[in-house]
Amino acid sequence: MIQTLNPPATDAIPFALYRDLESSALNEIIAAVKQKMGRELLILGHHYQQDEVIAHADLTGDSFKLSQLAGRDHDCRAIVFCGVHFMAETADILSRPEVAVYLPDLSAGCSMADMADLEAVEDAWSELGGQIDLEQVTPVTYINSAASLKAFCGRHGGAVCTSSNARAVLEWAFSRRARVLFFPDQHLGRNTARAMGVPLANMCVWDPRQPNGGNSPEAIAASRVLLWKGHCSVHQMFKPGHIKQFRTLFPQGKVLVHPECMMEVVDAADIVGSTESIIRTVAAAPAGSIWGIGTELHLVNRLAKQHPEQSIHFLSPMVCMCATMYRIDLPHLAWCLVNLERGTPVNRIAVDAETARWSRVALDRMLEIR
Ligand code: 13P
Ligand code: SF4
Repeated sequence: MIQTLNPPATDAIPFALYRDLESSALNEIIAAVKQKMGRELLILGHHYQQDEVIAHADLTGDSFKLSQLAGRDHDCRAIVFCGVHFMAETADILSRPEVAVYLPDLSAGCSMADMADLEAVEDAWSELGGQIDLEQVTPVTYINSAASLKAFCGRHGGAVCTSSNARAVLEWAFSRRARVLFFPDQHLGRNTARAMGVPLANMCVWDPRQPNGGNSPEAIAASRVLLWKGHCSVHQMFKPGHIKQFRTLFPQGKVLVHPECMMEVVDAADIVGSTESIIRTVAAAPAGSIWGIGTELHLVNRLAKQHPEQSIHFLSPMVCMCATMYRIDLPHLAWCLVNLERGTPVNRIAVDAETARWSRVALDRMLEIR
């Protein structure tokens, strides 16, 4: 559920004036606002954004790097986040209090983040409390979640994780308590716990639509990791058969996938990593390397363009692109920036103080974990 605390200024310039402008005109408008606002404005871009949007970003990164960057900037007074809603919320929580954060299109959400909400997680927590000692359960939320869930983790001794640091966060959690409740992405949780040696027999999937999450009391008692039944609609489209097909075509090739992919895909891949680590791995590879990459289409296409000396292939025959990330486009970016510069800001993302305070606890725990 997308929330904005500040309604748009009524005298804001309407979006309709930007919708049909040519890219060249929009590029000029965006460049002019950046020039005028200088260091007061920071545009952050997630790696899954379209190239034409990335071209205007001051800094780019994966979810982890962007949260660190939002917290570290000392000059800006506005962050325009070219990413999805939970990222803008995180930037609002981690940035200085005087910084306002904007999302150019409010419909840029994350379908995975929407698969867990506070009410369902609280229901699961109290249902689990009737069966196991909650003092021995650490809630861990993937950063792809609403601020209210990060706050839940903050209040209950838990932490946030990203695809870059999920293993370190789970190691931290297991050093303190016997069990983890991991939400909303079952795949990141399962892939990470398995790589740490947790057997599948000690993991169960919590389906919020089923009584007791769809589990027997014995399965809950045996669990070390309780995985929320959520997934990424983009990464779930990669299948083991795609890897088989790639290996037939390119026997010398290597398969590189994101840990939001299902376990069978991760098992069949050569390397698993977050978007930032996929970029680093390709950048460090010698000319002539052949890759089949399983992550969002815009990033893979960009890598192929940036590394013509390598042979980079998208792992799936389907178009696996993040439709919500794609909502951030030049018209929305221009509209958002012009209104910001003229003092009629639109699409501010502001997390309420209490939620921000507890989310910050869970985010700070993550940032402290090495
Ligand atoms: P990272 O940016 O952490 O690699 O996650 C990918 C993703 O799906 C972002 O929503
Ligand atoms: Fe959410 Fe998946 Fe899109 Fe990332 S790629 S924003 S997890 S739907």
